[in-house]
Amino acid sequence: MIPVLSKSSVRMRDPKRVEQILTSMRNAGPSTLQVISDFDMTLTRFAYNGKRCPTSHNILDDSKLISEDCKAKLNNLLDTYYPIEIDSTRSVEEKLPLMVEWWTKAHELLVQQKIIKDHLALAVRESEAMLRDGYQQFFDHLHQLSVPLLIFSAGIGDVLEEVIRQAGVFHPNVKVFSNYMDFDESGVLQAFKGELIHIYNKREGALLNTEHFKELQSRCNVLLLGDSLGDLNMADGVMDLQNILKIGYLNDKVDERRQSYLNSYDIVLEKDETMDVPNDILLYIT
Ligand code: C5P
Ligand code: MG
Repeated sequence: MIPVLSKSSVRMRDPKRVEQILTSMRNAGPSTLQVISDFDMTLTRFAYNGKRCPTSHNILDDSKLISEDCKAKLNNLLDTYYPIEIDSTRSVEEKLPLMVEWWTKAHELLVQQKIIKDHLALAVRESEAMLRDGYQQFFDHLHQLSVPLLIFSAGIGDVLEEVIRQAGVFHPNVKVFSNYMDFDESGVLQAFKGELIHIYNKREGALLNTEHFKELQSRCNVLLLGDSLGDLNMADGVMDLQNILKIGYLNDKVDERRQSYLNSYDIVLEKDETMDVPNDILLYIT
């Protein structure tokens, strides 16, 4: 087994199966691999020095682009709906309409703020957004091997792109599916484009993007990274799938959610703020 899998943050339901998947992927080589990753709280840190780090939504919520009154409303929404998002006693069926409500209300508030496109970069620069330790190696390694990385996010595409651009890792092998802002001709936010992506419809989002997965048809092995159970569906559009290894970051409510994460992710990373495990797995299989 790969030494990093003995790290104290690592939990596995079935280590033998993980080993088999890793061996198959290693034998097939990097030309058969694609990586699909969630963004917020998967590629970015959940906390730093005991303080929560922002999601792509929170980067805007906390920025100068939003009025104090609107900030209070957005924070209210967060306080209301985030506990529901991570509540392990409620079913997905129960949570889904509430999540749609959260995203819809938040997007409406953002649109009312008449955000200017050219101001996004500064909002990101002044934010406390942080990619996980080891992100540079992760992005650079995939780029060097020409392995496609799909970032599939229910956050805000324009903001997350800016985060990875400013970090110098928005390489040409990276593609993003997310919620994108629609600006009018003077560069003022007027709406969000296309179908809303929230945490529980990534399956539908994946199936809308058949063209992307068709292009990657020969890449039948998938490394999937997520932090929510909704992220497990991000690979539903992959064609001719052979092996998939699912790595899940369990950041919050660890004891309550451990069992459900172990049941659905092959490797669970508990309160692990690093990319160590994905990085060492990539070194092993490529
Ligand atoms: O990139 P990812 O798919 O993880 O983005 C979704 C995350 O954004 C959710 O986990 C949720 O907690 C967060 N969110 C937020 N503010 C909103 C809506 C979602 O911080 N208005
Ligand atoms: Mg996430």
